[in-house]
Amino acid sequence: MIEKLIRPNIKGIPPYVPGKSKEEIAQEFGLDPEKIIKLASNENPFGPSKTAIDAIGTASSKIAVYPDSVARDLIAELSKYLGIKKEQIITGNGSDEILDLTVRLFINEGNEAIISTPTFSVYESLIKIASGTPVFVPLKLKKHGFKYDTHGILDNINEKTKLVFICSPNNPTGNLISEEEVKKILERETIVLIDEAYTEFCGSSLIGLINEYENLIITRTFSKAFGLAGLRVGYGIACKKIIDYMFRIKVPFTVNTVAQKAAIAALKDRQHLKTTIETTKKGRDHLFVELSKIDSIKVYPSNANFLLINVKNTGKTAGKIAERLFKNGIITRDCKNFRGLDEYHLRVSIGTMEENLKFLKEFRHICQ
Ligand SMILES: Cc1ncc(COP(=O)(O)O)c(C=O)c1O
Repeated sequence: MIEKLIRPNIKGIPPYVPGKSKEEIAQEFGLDPEKIIKLASNENPFGPSKTAIDAIGTASSKIAVYPDSVARDLIAELSKYLGIKKEQIITGNGSDEILDLTVRLFINEGNEAIISTPTFSVYESLIKIASGTPVFVPLKLKKHGFKYDTHGILDNINEKTKLVFICSPNNPTGNLISEEEVKKILERETIVLIDEAYTEFCGSSLIGLINEYENLIITRTFSKAFGLAGLRVGYGIACKKIIDYMFRIKVPFTVNTVAQKAAIAALKDRQHLKTTIETTKKGRDHLFVELSKIDSIKVYPSNANFLLINVKNTGKTAGKIAERLFKNGIITRDCKNFRGLDEYHLRVSIGTMEENLKFLKEFRHICQ
């Protein structure tokens, strides 16, 4: 009966595949979870600011009452941090919620959304759930890594196009889009969503365009550089009109009290953020240089806290390599589920220096 009642367009949508957890791997391979290192979901290996953890303790006494549904204090703090007016910011249960709100605002049956592949799979799922049509424009692979195909995107914009997704830095390829390229897309009559989940690691942002283009939405998160993935806080920045519409359709109370307080504390601790970014970039550069020395693989330059590796010339699939790494207590991400990538791509998140070195040692051994 359920199969008969369910909306037909939902049936072909696969569930989201997250990176494996330490507990899963510990159980599967009989390992001590404490000794496992997770480099699979681009989290912050240094954890959140200590002041955020303290704020969680304090806020826990307030959980008998509903949270502030519009997260006033958090939005005020974000406004100061970003230099953007409060009425141009909305918070959500992870940036995933802002992606969902965007799709629900703009996509109807028959509408098209442009997605550059490979990228974060949630965009495609949301469009399909909304009965829209994803139009895929592959990234171009150049000598120095992946690049957005801006001409391809522009060529595919037509009267059915309502939304263009740009992920910058892109997950899993790590490349950026330039301001010049984005402006060409923004000149068209479509919403452009720029997902800046990893922006802190690249040192640049397209937020400066927000007051120039009313069709621009930028999403950001506390899950990566701020180390609060488990609390689920993200935010969107757009013109006041879009933010007002988002509030109209948003389910209330999705960002809980503890998460709001922790995010405020995390925002205020600039030193922790700075240390996280600097250490991660140092680790990324070191890992990139060392991986580049392995003849049988190709590592792509990245502006984020992860690196994408092509392992085809090792003669092993990324799945096989990931499995060998699992057995040694290291969790990485086999990218075969990313549309546009084959079974020979592995993504590794940047961990602490110690974790990076452990990964490097085992990975080198497996590739030889
Ligand atoms: C590109 C990108 N956007 C959004 C998200 C979701 O982030 P959040 O935890 O804020 O929902 C992720 C998570 O991995 C991501 O990689």
